Amino acid sequence: MRTIRFFPTAEVNGEKIEGTTAVVADVLRATTTIVRALDNGCLAVIPVVDVKKAHDVVRSLSRHDVVLGGERKGRKIDGFDFGNSPQEYTRERIQDKVLVITTTNGTKALVRAAKAAATLVLSFLNLTAITDCLLEQESDVSVIAAGNAGDRSIEDSVCCGLLIDQLVRRAPEQFSLSADAAKVAALSQNYRGKNHQLLSESPHGEYLAAIGYESDLAVCADIDACGIVPLYADGRITISEKKSLCQNEKAENRRGKKARLRKK
Ligand code: MLT
Repeated sequence: MRTIRFFPTAEVNGEKIEGTTAVVADVLRATTTIVRALDNGCLAVIPVVDVKKAHDVVRSLSRHDVVLGGERKGRKIDGFDFGNSPQEYTRERIQDKVLVITTTNGTKALVRAAKAAATLVLSFLNLTAITDCLLEQESDVSVIAAGNAGDRSIEDSVCCGLLIDQLVRRAPEQFSLSADAAKVAALSQNYRGKNHQLLSESPHGEYLAAIGYESDLAVCADIDACGIVPLYADGRITISEKKSLCQNEKAENRRGKKARLRKK
């Protein structure tokens, strides 16, 4: 049996997620933006925790192919190319570019989750693609909700809950749930088919609408609009060939099992 655990970012540490496949959701809007950028041909996304680090990373790469994106208080950062609206990351602007991005909560959650055996980027846009990928694997799963300044946000908990619910419905024999994972899976059922309403009525959704980003909410609510699996490894997020992620992991697990048997 594989265990699925749910964590708000503040509770994530290397020990808890070690050896698991981590999945990180920041529905409004960092992980949605990352998924959209990659789906529109972005070569790789480099998430960083602060503005200084973002500039340092850009300097270390060839400026020509690199764009700098992100937000503070929801708004584009001075001197950056883009903000954190998924609508900014069109194919015309992002194809074949590397995106260095820093956001208030989402990129911090991703960087924390990098200590897992594999780290995947989740949004409503790629819910089923991530579900399919996880079903192909063998490891335990850590589902991480980015939240807001240390607090839980309803939209991240619901997205995580829907993922957990889909996994359990499709393979009940594979999974057991931690108490928190069961709670968010149950919570998500109240919002089934009401994504847009959920985002519009959430505190951060209301804030984004108030500062002029209301149209982002429909984009962030668009379930399964992008069938991609973004994998964060070696400091970069790229689209994973689902099978190879799974096969690598299975091979790793087989090697691990053999080593454990040899020790006995
Ligand atoms: C974050 O990382 O806190 C968010 O993505 C904020 C936003 O809506 O831009």
